[in-house]
Amino acid sequence: MKVWLDGKVRDPEQARIPVSDHGLLYGDGVFEGIRVYAGRVFQLPRHLERLRLSARAIGLELPHPLARLHAIVCETLSAFGRDDAYVRLLITRGSGPLGVDPTRCPEPRTICIATEVEIYSPEKRARGLDLITASLRRPAADALDPGVKSLNYLNSVLAKREARRRGADEALVLNAHGRVAEASVANLFALRGRELRTPPPEEGLLAGLTRARVAELASAFGIDTVEAPLRRLDLFASDEVFLTGTGVSLVVGVRSLDGQTLGSGRPGPFTEKLSGAFFELVEREGAPVVGLCASVP
Ligand SMILES: Cc1ncc(COP(=O)(O)O)c(C=O)c1O
Repeated sequence: MKVWLDGKVRDPEQARIPVSDHGLLYGDGVFEGIRVYAGRVFQLPRHLERLRLSARAIGLELPHPLARLHAIVCETLSAFGRDDAYVRLLITRGSGPLGVDPTRCPEPRTICIATEVEIYSPEKRARGLDLITASLRRPAADALDPGVKSLNYLNSVLAKREARRRGADEALVLNAHGRVAEASVANLFALRGRELRTPPPEEGLLAGLTRARVAELASAFGIDTVEAPLRRLDLFASDEVFLTGTGVSLVVGVRSLDGQTLGSGRPGPFTEKLSGAFFELVEREGAPVVGLCASVP
C-alpha cells in the first residue's frame, strides 16, 4: 500500500492523520474508489467529476483543482507500482474542534491510497453470491442522499454486517418503500427475457459509474436496458441477477436471495458475457498509468 498525504507519497505506517479530523469524528467528507486493471486506469475523469459533485453537495470545497487530484492519483499509483490496483481518494472536512460545525474546519484534507482489493474470492465469483435482504433500509434522499458518495457509510456497513452474520456474502438494500435500491456497495441489475432492469437513482442509490456503462455493452448482446423500479419479488422472476461496481470488480453474479435460488442458481450466460465485455472495455478505454501520468492535464 502507498498513501499520498500532506504533499507526498508515504508508506502506510507513516501516513497518519490527527484524531481531530472531522472525517473520522463525523464521517464528514467524500470519496471515490477507482480501479486499475492490467496497468490501465478506468474512468478516472468521471470519478473526479463525481467527487466534485459529492463535495459540492455537502458544501465542501475541494482543496485542489481536478488536474492536481489527477496528478495525486498518478503519483500514488506510480509509487505503488502494481498493474492491478484500487485507488481510494478521500477528501475529509479536515481538522477542527469537537462539534459538528464544519465551518470550524478551515482546511480540507486530501488522502489518496493505492492498494489491492478483493471483495469476493474468485471461487465466490464463479459460483455466484448469496444475498440476504437487509433489515435496514437506505435512507431517503432528504435525510442522507445515497447519491452522494460521502464518508458516511454506516448504512452500508450495517447491511454488510447483517449479511455476513447471516452467512451470506452480500446484502440487498431496499428503500423506504420496500423496493430494491442496491447492494451494500454495488448496483443491482435483473435480466428477464431480453430486458435488463435496474432501479433509477430516485429509488435511493448511488448512480454507479460501472452501472452507467452497462446499457451500451448489453445492447451489443441484443439486450435492452431500462431504468425502472424493481420489487424484491421481481428478482425471483428473473433469469439472472448481478451486481456492478468498482469495488466488486465490475460485474458479479448473484445465485440466491434469502436462501431462495435466483435464476439457474449460478451466474448466468449474460452475466458472464457482460463481465467479459467489461474487461475488454477497460483494455480498450482505460488509460495506461504510465501515459496518464506523463500527460497530467
Ligand atoms: C453504495 C454504492 N453503490 C454503488 C456503487 C457502485 O458505483 P461505481 O460503479 O461507480 O463503483 C458504489 C461504489 O463502488 C457504492 O459505494
